[in-house]
Amino acid sequence: MSAKTIKVEIKRQATPDQPARTEKFEIPYRANMNITSLLGEIALNPVDASGQPTTPISYDSNCLEEICGSCAMLINGRARMACSTLVDKLDQPITLAPLSKFPLVRDLQVDRSVLFENLKAVKAWVPIDGTYDLGSGPRQFPQLQEERYPLSNCISCCCCMEVCPQFNESTNFVGAATIAQAYLFNEDPSGSVLKEERLRALAGDGGVQECGFAQNCIQACPKQLPLTKAISDISRDVILQEVKDFFTK
Ligand code: SF4
Ligand code: SF4
Ligand code: FES
Repeated sequence: MSAKTIKVEIKRQATPDQPARTEKFEIPYRANMNITSLLGEIALNPVDASGQPTTPISYDSNCLEEICGSCAMLINGRARMACSTLVDKLDQPITLAPLSKFPLVRDLQVDRSVLFENLKAVKAWVPIDGTYDLGSGPRQFPQLQEERYPLSNCISCCCCMEVCPQFNESTNFVGAATIAQAYLFNEDPSGSVLKEERLRALAGDGGVQECGFAQNCIQACPKQLPLTKAISDISRDVILQEVKDFFTK
C-alpha cells in the first residue's frame, strides 16, 4: 500500500428515514484521481479508516465526462460534479454529501426529478411530434445560433438550484436551469410556436419573478451557462406577455 493516502469523510444514510452518519475512509493515493474514481476505490475495498468493513457508497454516475449531469453532489461543501472534480485540487479531509435541496435516495444519491417536472411545465422542447418527414427547419442566422448554443449545454445537474437561495419550498421557484431552457426554446425559430405558453408558465407562482438575481447559479454552473442573462431577458418577455394578455382578455 502506498504510504500516502487520501482522507475522505462521507455522509451516509441508508434510507431517507434512517439517521445520517459520517464514515471516514483513507484511500491509497494515486495521482489524477477524480471523486468518482475515489468512490470506485471504496467500492472495490469497502473498509473504513478504522479497518471496519462497510458497504459501498451509493451515488449516481454515468458518462464520467460532465455530460450526463447525474453525479452532482456537495464536495467540500460546494455543489459540483464528482467526475470532473480532481482530488489533487481539494483540501483534505475531502467531505462528500448529497445535494441538500432534493429528496434523498441513499448516501450521495438524490432524486432530481423536480427539474424534469419543471421542464415539462414550461414545455422546454421543440414540438416536432410525428413520424413523417418534417423537412428542414427554418433557417437561422449564425449569430442567433451562437447566442443560443451555450444554453444548450445544460446537463440538468441541478447545481444551480442547489445554490439558489430562492429555490425552496416556500417560493416553489422553478430555478435557473428551467428558465434558461425556456429561453433557449423561445429563441428557436421552431420552438417559438410555444413561446406564449412558456412565458405564461413562468409568470405564475414559482416563476421568474421569484429570482432575486443573487447570481449564485451562474457561479455554480459547471457548463458556464449565461444564466443571469437568460433570466433577465425572459423576465422582460414575461412582463410583455402579461401586459399583452391583460389588454386582450
Ligand atoms: S440569480 Fe440568484 S435567485 Fe436567481 S436563479 Fe440565480 S441563484 Fe437563484
Ligand atoms: S444550468 Fe448549469 S448548473 Fe443548472 S442544471 Fe444546467 S448545467 Fe447544471
Ligand atoms: S458522470 Fe455524467 S456528469 Fe458526471
